[in-house]
Amino acid sequence: MAGLSLNACGITFWATVFLVASTGATPVDSSSSTSRCKVYPGDAAWPSDDAWAKLNKATDNRLLIKPEPQASVCYNGPLYDAAKCAELTTDWGRSYTHFDDPIEMMSPVAQGMTCLPPDVFNSHNCTRGGFPMYVINATEPKHVQLGVDFARETGVRLIIKNTGHDFLGKSGGKDSLSIWTHHFKSIDYIEKFEDEKLGYSGPAFKAGVGVQAFEIYKAAHDKGRAVVGGEGETVGIFGGYIQGGGHSPLSSLYGTGADQVLSFDVVTADGKFVVANSTSNPDLFWAMRGGGGSTFGVATAVTVKAHPDMPTTASRFGFTSEKIGNETFWAGVRTYVDYFIPNADAGTYAYFLLLPNITTGIFSFKMSPFFAPNKTLEQTTTLLQPWFTRLNDLGITFDPNITHFDSYYDAWKSSFPLEVVEKINATTGSRMFPRANFETEAKRDELLNNLRKSSENNRVQVHFNIKAVDPSNADNAVNPAWRPNILFAQQAVRWPVNATSAEILKIRQDFQTGDMQRWRDSSPGAGSYLAEADRLEPNFGQAFFGTNYPRLLELKTKWDPEDVFFVTTGVGSERWKVESVDGLPNENGKLCRVTT
Ligand SMILES: Cc1cc2nc3c(=O)[nH]c(=O)nc-3n(C[C@H](O)[C@H](O)[C@H](O)COP(=O)(O)OP(=O)(O)OC[C@H]3O[C@@H](n4cnc5c(N)ncnc54)[C@H](O)[C@@H]3O)c2cc1C
Ligand SMILES: *[C@@H]1O[C@H](CO)[C@@H](O)[C@H](O)[C@H]1NC(C)=O
Ligand SMILES: *[C@@H]1O[C@H](CO)[C@@H](O)[C@H](O)[C@H]1NC(C)=O
Ligand SMILES: *[C@@H]1O[C@H](CO)[C@@H](O)[C@H](O)[C@H]1NC(C)=O
Ligand SMILES: *[C@@H]1O[C@H](CO)[C@@H](O)[C@H](O)[C@H]1NC(C)=O
Ligand SMILES: *[C@@H]1O[C@H](CO)[C@@H](O)[C@H](O)[C@H]1NC(C)=O
Ligand SMILES: *[C@@H]1O[C@H](CO)[C@@H](O)[C@H](O)[C@H]1NC(C)=O
Ligand SMILES: *[C@@H]1O[C@H](CO)[C@@H](O)[C@H](O)[C@H]1NC(C)=O
Ligand SMILES: *[C@@H]1O[C@H](CO)[C@@H](O)[C@H](O)[C@H]1NC(C)=O
Ligand SMILES: *[C@@H]1O[C@H](CO)[C@@H](O)[C@H](O)[C@H]1NC(C)=O
Repeated sequence: MAGLSLNACGITFWATVFLVASTGATPVDSSSSTSRCKVYPGDAAWPSDDAWAKLNKATDNRLLIKPEPQASVCYNGPLYDAAKCAELTTDWGRSYTHFDDPIEMMSPVAQGMTCLPPDVFNSHNCTRGGFPMYVINATEPKHVQLGVDFARETGVRLIIKNTGHDFLGKSGGKDSLSIWTHHFKSIDYIEKFEDEKLGYSGPAFKAGVGVQAFEIYKAAHDKGRAVVGGEGETVGIFGGYIQGGGHSPLSSLYGTGADQVLSFDVVTADGKFVVANSTSNPDLFWAMRGGGGSTFGVATAVTVKAHPDMPTTASRFGFTSEKIGNETFWAGVRTYVDYFIPNADAGTYAYFLLLPNITTGIFSFKMSPFFAPNKTLEQTTTLLQPWFTRLNDLGITFDPNITHFDSYYDAWKSSFPLEVVEKINATTGSRMFPRANFETEAKRDELLNNLRKSSENNRVQVHFNIKAVDPSNADNAVNPAWRPNILFAQQAVRWPVNATSAEILKIRQDFQTGDMQRWRDSSPGAGSYLAEADRLEPNFGQAFFGTNYPRLLELKTKWDPEDVFFVTTGVGSERWKVESVDGLPNENGKLCRVTT
């Protein structure tokens, strides 16, 4: 293993770099263990240009130095270009604009809103904000090892960016060194993968961690297979998604993304390149299946189960309160709640929206889509008919289009639109409502009133009626709240574009003590999903990791005793805080220890 031999001399290599680089004063590595904050520009311990140049050389010239935010073409300075700015403004919403870039994140709010196209949001200036200072455009484990060693030995903050989809901005960090994993793009099909301990014998894919949903779904389809992944076209299935759990249009059949993992190739905090599977580093294997990205190591490849491809039926429809009025509208939504348990138990997935319009006072329900993998048109129609009859009885017109596809891939391609970048004036909170919330008439009434209240408070709601039970009962770190889940619910709070930092903070805090607390109160002991949640979620250890938290914290200390890896709301993150310049929860500030 090239990685091990490299690591054996890694420390010596970096010691040499810093002996050459520093003026001979303090040994550089003292910073990481004792200083209050990570090392930043202006600190005596900040690596010299020469040290960065050595890192660049060692990584085959793959170090990007101060990559510019894309919107710098919109602001006064050497890169100003009105035509390019206009083009960027047009393309801003497309996820491709962001994941193909070494630093951009899908969540501008978490970046700190310091450089956006003025027509999207006028940041009046373009500064780096929560973006990293240096980026290793990694394509080999060796590049990752060098980045991890450099960060550990210098005390510079380390981040990992794959696609940048994380809702909370966990792929950003001011003035950090970033390892960009986007170009680990290999996909290998394994006819027969056997692991007695995991009880799996069957086909598998080994994929580089930069592989995205549209790529693995196509590769799987070509082999007559289907792989568990997210609905979004460009989500990085083998990075943050899979380590954080990951829900899927196939979850009601096969469980979470993390439940599919057979093996990881990982660079750990000590710079070693290891395998984490059921027999090699099994505790790391356990933790990385659900314990969250950028916490225990950097994966470079992941092996997952490959399931048979299957015909799939999908359906889209909707209705609004415009002609029928509020009471009938909510009665219609209420009839649906009666079918959440049977529909999830039947192996289906439903993605639906509840949209308020404060100007018109009109509410909308949008099913987009109801997704029935492995079901014929007839089976799907039979499943939906009892609910449709009740909607008809209420006089609700909803115009269903039920379409059958020969494969999961074709159904997925036709059913889910390309995802867009997140809003500049919104934040999403989430809750996993368990089966207990749907088992009685009274509980279903309570749930409906809960959703209605959020709509009346002008929250945009996105819901997933799914379960996430792994038929093989994998023992892993997936949030236990996924197991009884029936409704994974998201609601977004919005604020005026011109609101001050203090106003935004107040609105966000009120959202947590108001609408989010009401959701928590009605689902005691349940949780939230770490990749689609609010940075202000209180008691994040319980919410994102549940009863696994104490063990995960022990494993964090074992595998990363120096906190080389940090992400906000990650395991062990309570020891650190991003001290943002505007006091808002974002990445635009130094990462410092929480002093007691
Ligand atoms: C439009 C949209 C649709 C989505 N749809 C779904 C969905 O259907 N189901 C679902 O479950 N989620 C969904 N998500 C959430 C998504 O799973 C998370 O945003 C997830 O974090 C994305 O992982 P990523 O690697 O692509 O993103 P990134 O933001 O690049 O990374 C996420 C986190 O993982 C870390 N990380 C990334 N790669 C590695 C690695 N190789 N090793 C260690 N750490 C790593 C990063 O540091 C970061 O902390 C969606 C998000 C968006 C914006
Ligand atoms: C823009 O930001 C730069 C870098 O922080 C700063 O030097 C400059 O004064 C700022 N310009 C304005 C107009 O705020
Ligand atoms: C990153 O590396 C890939 C693969 O070598 C290359 O195609 C791409 O252009 C690089 N990106 C940047 C911004 O350097
Ligand atoms: C786990 O990884 C080790 C080390 O690479 C390997 O020897 C072993 O065969 C793997 N186990 C399985 C079930 O693949
Ligand atoms: C609300 O409805 C008005 C009038 O139809 C429309 O112009 C506006 O875009 C809607 N707002 C939202 C947030 O959908
Ligand atoms: C429906 O409820 C909304 C929000 O509570 C309100 O603004 C609207 O006027 C109501 N519509 C009708 C027709 O009563
Ligand atoms: C899919 O349907 C086939 C045929 O009805 C069945 O044999 C198979 O078990 C189903 N798969 C799953 C995962 O339910
Ligand atoms: C129904 O949906 C399918 C698949 O999305 C689409 O091709 C078809 O045009 C739709 N039919 C109607 C009548 O809208
Ligand atoms: C959020 O910003 C958009 C523009 O991007 C604006 O249309 C909308 O009204 C804003 N929302 C609120 C609640 O002000
Ligand atoms: C934001 O704009 C609104 C309407 O234009 C105005 O009433 C409000 O005072 C502004 N708020 C701030 C903080 O500028």
